[in-house]
Amino acid sequence: MQKPLTAVAAAGIRKSFGKDEAAIHVIRNLDFSLPEGRFEAVMGPSGSGKSTLLHLVAGLLAPDAGAIRIGAQDLTGMSDRDATVFRRRHVGLIFQDYNLIPTLTAEENIALPLLLDRRRDDGGRVASLMDALGIAARRRHFPAALSGGERQRVAIARALVGKPTVVLADEPTGNLDSPAAQDFCALMKRLNAETGCAILMVTHDPVVAAAAERIHILRDGRFMDSFETQGSPARVAERYLDAMRAE
Ligand SMILES: Nc1ncnc2c1ncn2[C@@H]1O[C@H](COP(=O)(O)OP(=O)(O)OP(=O)(O)O)[C@@H](O)[C@H]1O
Ligand SMILES: [Mg+2]
Repeated sequence: MQKPLTAVAAAGIRKSFGKDEAAIHVIRNLDFSLPEGRFEAVMGPSGSGKSTLLHLVAGLLAPDAGAIRIGAQDLTGMSDRDATVFRRRHVGLIFQDYNLIPTLTAEENIALPLLLDRRRDDGGRVASLMDALGIAARRRHFPAALSGGERQRVAIARALVGKPTVVLADEPTGNLDSPAAQDFCALMKRLNAETGCAILMVTHDPVVAAAAERIHILRDGRFMDSFETQGSPARVAERYLDAMRAE
């Protein structure tokens, strides 16, 4: 049988900050894989290492031990420069504060990854993403003139413009009210189905997490549980609390 293809594969990864007695072991011998095209989420208490894990997967941080692969590419031992280029082409990032460039318009922010890579926007991908995300009328607006939800849509379009293997989202609904968070979930499900990009999302919210197919629960730098959401926030909340209560 052919091996299923993975968007992300991490084996035996460890990450500590600080030295000797002061060292904080944030990620402890973690194995993880995300199949191609899947939408999965990571939940865990504050400080459990969720953002650190995403930064490792994005190649923004290097693990102390273990290996991380995105598609067929091993990130281990890549130079910073190569990792930057690789990330731009294969990884889409959506952070809570969006990190848009204030002096560029919505359209320019979205096109930036292509521009930095000297890639042309063949097939009008920027325009079609803006249409799909309902922000075409905001094309020439600067981030300061956009609402929170619109800014986030610009960040989503920017993450998707390069047709990444995987989109990593760190608490993407942290600044949104619940209707906007629900819109975000519906949108991510649709984009996941339409573009086939894998998604790995960190969230604290069981309702948001239930948009994903599977949840991984991180506690003290280890995965405590992993389960299919079946689209049920109640199931997610229950399993999450069980994992927090476990010894
Ligand atoms: N660059 C760093 N230097 C030192 N310690 C760090 C660094 N980055 C993270 N940590 C520590 O690692 C631990 C995990 O941090 P991380 O940001 O991954 O948690 P998190 O699960 O994302 O939490 P939250 O839900 O609050 O965002 C924390 O104790 C944090 O203080
Ligand atoms: Mg975090």
